[in-house]
Amino acid sequence: MIAAGQTLREARVALSGAFRAAGLDEPEADARALIRHVAGSDSALHGMASDRCLTDEEAGRLSALAARRLGREPVARLTGMRAFYGIDLALNRACLVPRPDTETVVEAALALLPDGLPTRILDLGTGPGTILLAILAERPAATGTGVDLSAEALEAARANAAALGLGARADFRQGNWLKGLAGPFGMIVSNPPYIPAAICEGLDPEVRDHDPRLALDGGTDGLDAYRAILAGVPALLAPGGHLVLELGIGQAAPVALIARDHGLRLAALRSDLAGIPRALVLVAT
Ligand SMILES: C[S@@+](CC[C@H](N)C(=O)[O-])C[C@H]1O[C@@H](n2cnc3c(N)ncnc32)[C@H](O)[C@@H]1O
Repeated sequence: MIAAGQTLREARVALSGAFRAAGLDEPEADARALIRHVAGSDSALHGMASDRCLTDEEAGRLSALAARRLGREPVARLTGMRAFYGIDLALNRACLVPRPDTETVVEAALALLPDGLPTRILDLGTGPGTILLAILAERPAATGTGVDLSAEALEAARANAAALGLGARADFRQGNWLKGLAGPFGMIVSNPPYIPAAICEGLDPEVRDHDPRLALDGGTDGLDAYRAILAGVPALLAPGGHLVLELGIGQAAPVALIARDHGLRLAALRSDLAGIPRALVLVAT
């Protein structure tokens, strides 16, 4: 499919055709991403740059990556990078690949954070620093802590903070949700694991075989992490502070009920681009 001497344009057409024939969801975007990665340049697919021929080494690497993509490994795992809300995040195998849905959580949080206010933010289950770093990049006066049970995911988070020039305003610690943390925080955000355990095995191979189970599995009804987080938030949230939670499909009502039992009131519900209620905003009553 790919051979040295092919132009980048020919390679793109061949790859996207093979990906389409294999039934991948985004064959053209995947082909472009892999060629950009191997060619090491964003402009590789445009104009005269796309007439350049692949070297032996590039053709070998591209073939290997294409085979892994055809084996349903996600592009972000192959490149080790994912763009999210205007920042580039490096990933390791312990990190969930950031999803566009989670940008709804960032937008809900930013809408509540006036520019220039030195808010202290807590991101529970931060992974590669996804939500916290996206917020800090937009709010230069804010500082934050990211917590994760996975030490390996936190290595990626620290490296991302440093690479983005946010290291001085972000600290990361290993922990089980809010245990051992000292408040108050002006804002708490979280995208917890929320997929019911029985559904995990039936997920697409890209997710089931490549995202860490710790980042997906929300227990029998998908709500275990919400119960743990909501029980601890009232003690750590500053007066007037907000909690912003990402939701799985159909979870707004059950999560709002658990929140109410812990004295937290629904302030807003934001939908993602598909119209699915995705970000729940709660305040202490
Ligand atoms: C759905 S992923 C979210 C990752 C990232 N915040 C994002 O939005 O893309 C959930 C994260 O929670 C972490 N996690 C799971 N159980 C945890 C626990 N008990 N305490 C802290 N973090 C936990 C996982 O390691 C994972 O990074």
